[in-house]
Amino acid sequence: MKLTIFALSPSLLGASAYPAAADSGLVGFAKDNPVGATTGGAGGETVIVSTPSALKSAATDATPRIIFLSGNFTLTSRLSIGPDKSLIGTGTGANILSNGFNIKSVSNVIIRNLGIRGDIGNDGITIQNSTRVWIDHNEFESGGFPASGPDNDNEVLVEGNVFSGNTAEALSTYGLVIPNDSPNTSPDGDSELDGFANLGAKNDWGPASVNITRTGAFTEAPYAYTLTALGDVKNAVKAGAGLGKI
Ligand SMILES: *[C@@H]1O[C@H](CO)[C@@H](O)[C@H](O)[C@H]1NC(C)=O
Ligand SMILES: *[C@@H]1O[C@H](CO)[C@@H](O)[C@H](O)[C@H]1NC(C)=O
Ligand SMILES: *[C@@H]1O[C@H](CO)[C@@H](O)[C@H](O)[C@H]1NC(C)=O
Repeated sequence: MKLTIFALSPSLLGASAYPAAADSGLVGFAKDNPVGATTGGAGGETVIVSTPSALKSAATDATPRIIFLSGNFTLTSRLSIGPDKSLIGTGTGANILSNGFNIKSVSNVIIRNLGIRGDIGNDGITIQNSTRVWIDHNEFESGGFPASGPDNDNEVLVEGNVFSGNTAEALSTYGLVIPNDSPNTSPDGDSELDGFANLGAKNDWGPASVNITRTGAFTEAPYAYTLTALGDVKNAVKAGAGLGKI
């Protein structure tokens, strides 16, 4: 499904292991889940990396570690992040280029303040079979396809968002047509299943449309949170979103 939203999500969050000036506290499944709050590499060593090879050796094993990333990392292949890791970009210029991250069959991963760009035709971050994954304050750029999620058959509750921009459609759950990407299981012929979305508290889509093809059952989040008032969202996003704001 495609989810293109200019939003302040209630999950612009804080944690304890690093500076958190613009953060407001961890909420959501990253905090309220059967295992416990997502802590990433907390309790492990803290390292600063500035080369792809140093990043690879720090991020892919199973040892808890807090990893600060400095500068640009042009990856020659996708990096599979290990469990119990915090990956945190420093300043406004930490970017993962050419290839993105896989988070597969692991638990307890935090990724913050990174630009993840230019992985043409692939995901910036692929998450599969994993729990306690907290990703915020990052910037994603596809570098070839419109910003869009993959097949992410997922179910979302969309509320309190403000959309602005010159694309006609702010939100669509319609499956993406990616030949050979997955079996053709959709009744209307595309090669991906549509996602599920429900609209909760009022959104402001501006002149853009939404196209929700499947609604599913996610109409209320099972955790506590406070929505930013719709009229305050744009300013709050500008003040808090993007690189260099944590
Ligand atoms: C780092 O990557 C970004 C995004 O591609 C680019 O704008 C910037 O110039 C790069 N910085 C350096 C020092 O290469
Ligand atoms: C999912 O991850 C768990 C480890 O958390 C692993 O034991 C299991 O084999 C994985 N399942 C699949 C289908 O990859
Ligand atoms: C929803 O999106 C699909 C795929 O782009 C399109 O075929 C359909 O006409 C759209 N429906 C509406 C109501 O815009």
